[in-house]
Amino acid sequence: MQVHKYDVVIVGAGGAGMRAAIESGQRARTAVLTKLYPTRSHTGAAQGGMCAALANVEEDNWEWHTFDTVKGGDYLVDQDAAEVMAKEAIDAVLDLEKMGLPFNRTPEGRIDQRRFGGHTRDHGKAPVRRSCYAADRTGHMILQTLYQNCVKHNVEFFNEYYVLDMLTVDEEFTVDGVTRIRKRVAGVVSYDLATGELHVFQAKSVVFATGGVGKVYKTTSNAHTLTGDGMGIAFRRGIPLEDMEFFQFHPTGLAGLGILLSEAARGEGAILRNSEGERFMERYAPTIKDLAPRDIVARSMANEVREGRGAGPNKDYVLLDLTHLEPAHIDAKLPDITEFARTYLGVEPYTEPVPVFPTAHYAMGGIPTNIKAEVLQHNDTVVPGLYAAGEVACVSVHGSNRLGTNSLLDINVFGKRAGIAAAEYAVTAEFVEIPDNPLVETERLLDTMRSSEGGERVAQIRQELQDIMDANVQVFRTEQTLKEALEVIDKLEERYTRVTVQDKGKRFNLDLLEAVELGFLLDMAKVMTAAALHRQESRGGHFREDYPERDDENFMTHSMAYKDPSATETSGVRLETKPVVFTRYQPMERKY
Ligand code: FUM
Repeated sequence: MQVHKYDVVIVGAGGAGMRAAIESGQRARTAVLTKLYPTRSHTGAAQGGMCAALANVEEDNWEWHTFDTVKGGDYLVDQDAAEVMAKEAIDAVLDLEKMGLPFNRTPEGRIDQRRFGGHTRDHGKAPVRRSCYAADRTGHMILQTLYQNCVKHNVEFFNEYYVLDMLTVDEEFTVDGVTRIRKRVAGVVSYDLATGELHVFQAKSVVFATGGVGKVYKTTSNAHTLTGDGMGIAFRRGIPLEDMEFFQFHPTGLAGLGILLSEAARGEGAILRNSEGERFMERYAPTIKDLAPRDIVARSMANEVREGRGAGPNKDYVLLDLTHLEPAHIDAKLPDITEFARTYLGVEPYTEPVPVFPTAHYAMGGIPTNIKAEVLQHNDTVVPGLYAAGEVACVSVHGSNRLGTNSLLDINVFGKRAGIAAAEYAVTAEFVEIPDNPLVETERLLDTMRSSEGGERVAQIRQELQDIMDANVQVFRTEQTLKEALEVIDKLEERYTRVTVQDKGKRFNLDLLEAVELGFLLDMAKVMTAAALHRQESRGGHFREDYPERDDENFMTHSMAYKDPSATETSGVRLETKPVVFTRYQPMERKY
């Protein structure tokens, strides 16, 4: 067993991980473990922008941004966290600019800003230009910029190191005279793809920044690597997952493929139309129309298709119309996505509308944290030394529906906070002794898979999982669809115990790791579905046709999902609740 010792270990090298590393690397000895190469992380696929109330092109302020975020999240947002994010957004953009990020500029040389869904002026009066951008490659530019700055600060990367387990010890602590048990982090176990060797990283602080879980769905904008590993590891180790029923469907995936076509297209003036050529969003969101938040636009699109106004031979998509925009404007502002439409659908966006339909895009839920990015084991019990930031975390700034461009912002604001907090903790804390037999769980998992002759195939189980999630845990859900999905997931989980990998070797065994990732996907699909079943109301991205209204009396709470084999009704997932933090805004009916 190889053991490494660092003050801070960061798991994941996307935007949140690298933003944390830049801070931590300047304060404490820091290692970043990533299952990819940093510049291949999924942050690079983010397109349209990162918002901040810079007011560079029109009047704006951070309070309007906070309000939009809270209302966009259908009042399930923790308002203290949203306030932090909106206030710190301005410095987050300026930090990136100073690091060298090539933002688009106004003619006067300021950072340009564009419109995005749900971002408004003066509490919903009209769309506002709040998103800073680099054409439709904003995530790519952020990732490159952060990586270069990590290199500048001598951050140590362990590339293609898959973290498969977290090491914790239980410790007693006392609050208000009551003694309780909490976890404390000791390090992580990782698998080196090149050699097949397991490595233990002992650390005073561990930051999870492993991204999302979009691959539970077939039609998704997410990369193949987004298999919920970080969420899965935490869940298996007794950390709850918060608000996992809220999964965002981005309105404009390329129809049938799910490839992301940035909301920036609508920000630049593109219009959604049904088969009759009607600008149907005028009916659903009369004030801000196509720039309504994503949950509303995605549901409206699905509704048009359901009611027979879908386009195409099977009437199963709607159309994104850019034909009224100047080709030079499209080329300057949306070069990548228009090329995607040409390459993948053979459609010329200058002259033809592009077929689009909602695609699984973003997990609003995740590992619960407070605004210092500290992970919470129970509602307010911090796990000393453990931090999370970015899509893997739930702080909760997105509530039940995230606004576009708040995600690149989230990774920068809370990535930075996590890096500072993790390093400051590590500077004063002692190392926790690594538990005896630290590899036992990981070796058992890998050995079972290597030796199994059960004959079940990873690709088959994954496909069946994605099929049921696409069909039953979608934009619209009911008790019946969710119960059916849980039954199927339970059966798939049982078959997973007999999964067989073809490659029995040690070096570059991606076959084995895909089997491990499938285990995380199954766990997360189960949590998402059980939490969706539990929430008998409709809010943000979670629309229950059998409970179509928001129910603040019974469900104005975060859900907290714990692994608990005794919760047999809900497939081993126990649901508890956590209060929502209110500061300035009382819930209102959400109209646009
Ligand atoms: O549409 C987009 O460019 C995606 C942005 C986001 O998810 O924030």
